[in-house]
Amino acid sequence: MELFQYYAPTKVVFGRGAEEQTGELVRACGGRKVLLHYGGGSVVRSGLLERVKASLDRWGVAYVELGGVVPNPRLSLVNRGIELARRESVDFILAVGGGSTIDSGKAIGYGVANGGDVWDFYCGRRKAAACLPVGAVLTLAATGSEMSNSSVITNEDGWLKRGYTNDLSRPVFAALNPELTMTLPAYQTACGCADILMHTLERYLNGCQTNLQLTDALAEGLMRTVIRNAKVLRETPQDYPARAEIMWAGSLSHNGLTGFCTDNGDWMTHKLEHELSGMFDVAHGAGLTAVWGSWARYVSARRPERFARLGVNVLGVEPGAGDGETARQAILAMEGFFRSIDMPTSLRELGVNPTPAQLEEMADKCALAVGGTGGSVQKLNRDDMLAIYRLAMG
Ligand code: NZQ
Ligand code: ZN
Repeated sequence: MELFQYYAPTKVVFGRGAEEQTGELVRACGGRKVLLHYGGGSVVRSGLLERVKASLDRWGVAYVELGGVVPNPRLSLVNRGIELARRESVDFILAVGGGSTIDSGKAIGYGVANGGDVWDFYCGRRKAAACLPVGAVLTLAATGSEMSNSSVITNEDGWLKRGYTNDLSRPVFAALNPELTMTLPAYQTACGCADILMHTLERYLNGCQTNLQLTDALAEGLMRTVIRNAKVLRETPQDYPARAEIMWAGSLSHNGLTGFCTDNGDWMTHKLEHELSGMFDVAHGAGLTAVWGSWARYVSARRPERFARLGVNVLGVEPGAGDGETARQAILAMEGFFRSIDMPTSLRELGVNPTPAQLEEMADKCALAVGGTGGSVQKLNRDDMLAIYRLAMG
C-alpha cells in the first residue's frame, strides 16, 4: 500500500426520522440562512419539504426556496440559484432530493463563493477556491453525491454534461432516512442500484496489478450486498432493511472507500454514459448498464484475471477453463443481473437510437471530456469510444 489520501468528512445521520434533525445540523455547521433546493415536486407531494421547513423553523434557521431541479440538472437553474443566493445573503445550501438536486446545490455553492462564470469549473478552465457549505437530505440512493466530491451539470448550450470534482463541495452532513426512498418508482430504484454498483465496479476494475485485500473485500462485499438487495426491492419495494442496505451502500460506494490505495479506477463507463444522458436525457443508472457490457467486452482481455475474480467472488460464476472464459461468463452474469432488475444492456433497450453522426458526436465529446484518452483497464481514444458506442447499439 503506497502513499494515499482518504478524506470523507461528511457527518452522516442515518435511520428513520433523520430529516427531523436538519435544523440542528445546519446550525451546528454555522448556517443562518439556507437556500432550500429541491426538484420537480416529489418532496412536496411526500410532505418531506414541510417537515424539513419545520425543523429549520424550530432551530431558527431562515430559508429561501428554489425548486425545479430536473434529472441531468441544468446550468440555467444553477445560475438562477447563484443570483438568488447572493441577493438573499444565503450562507448554506440545503439540498433535499436525489443526486441531481445535490449536484445543482454544489454548483450553486461554487458559484456564490467564487466570482465569474461557474461553468469554468465544469469545463476545466479554472479551479474553485471555495464553496458554500452544502448539506443533503437524500431521497434517492444512487449517486453517492451526499458524500462525494463531485457534481455533474448539463449546459443546455451544446448539451454538454460535465462533472467537477473538488473536496470543497463534499457535503458537511447527510441525513439518510431509508424510508424516504419508498415513494420512488421501481425504475428509479433500479437505476439507483445500478449506479451504486457501478461506482464500486469502476474502482474495482482498475489498472493496478497488486491485490489489496481489504479494499477488494470491501468492494466485493458492497457489490454482493447491492445485487442481493436490489433483487429484494424489485419484489418488495417497501422492505426497510433492503432500503437501508442500499442507501448505506450508495454512500460508501462513492466516498472513496472502495478505491482506497488504487489508481482510483477506470471510470470510462461513466464518461461514455455522461454523453448519452447529456444528449438524450436518459436516467444515468440505465445509461450505465446499457454501455457497461460493451465496454467490458472491449477491454476485458487486458485484465481477464480481474474480470474472472469479479465473476467468482461477486456473481457466483464457477471458475472456467481459464481466466478468459471465466471473464466472459462474468460479463454475461453481470448483464443477467441488470436484466433481472429491468435495466437495459444495450442502447436499443435503453430506448435510444443514435444516428451514425450522433455516435460520432458522442465519441468526440467524450474524448474531449477526458482530454483525449481515458480509462485505466485500457486507455481508450476517440476511435475506441466510437467502437464501444457502436457495439452498445445491440
Ligand atoms: O425531481 P423530483 O420530483 O424530486 O423527482 C425525482 C426525479 O424525477 C425522482 N425522485 C427522487 N427521489 C424521489 C423521487 N421520486 C419519488 N420519491 C422519491 N423519494 O427521481 C428522479 C431522478 O432524480 P435524480 O436526482 O435525477 O436521480 P439521481 O439521484 O440518480 O441523480 C442523477 C444525477 O446525478 C449524476 C448523474 O449523472 C445525474 O445527473 N451523478 C452524480 C454523481 C456525484 N455527484 O457524485 C456521481 C454519479 O456517477 C452521477 O454521474
Ligand atoms: Zn454514477
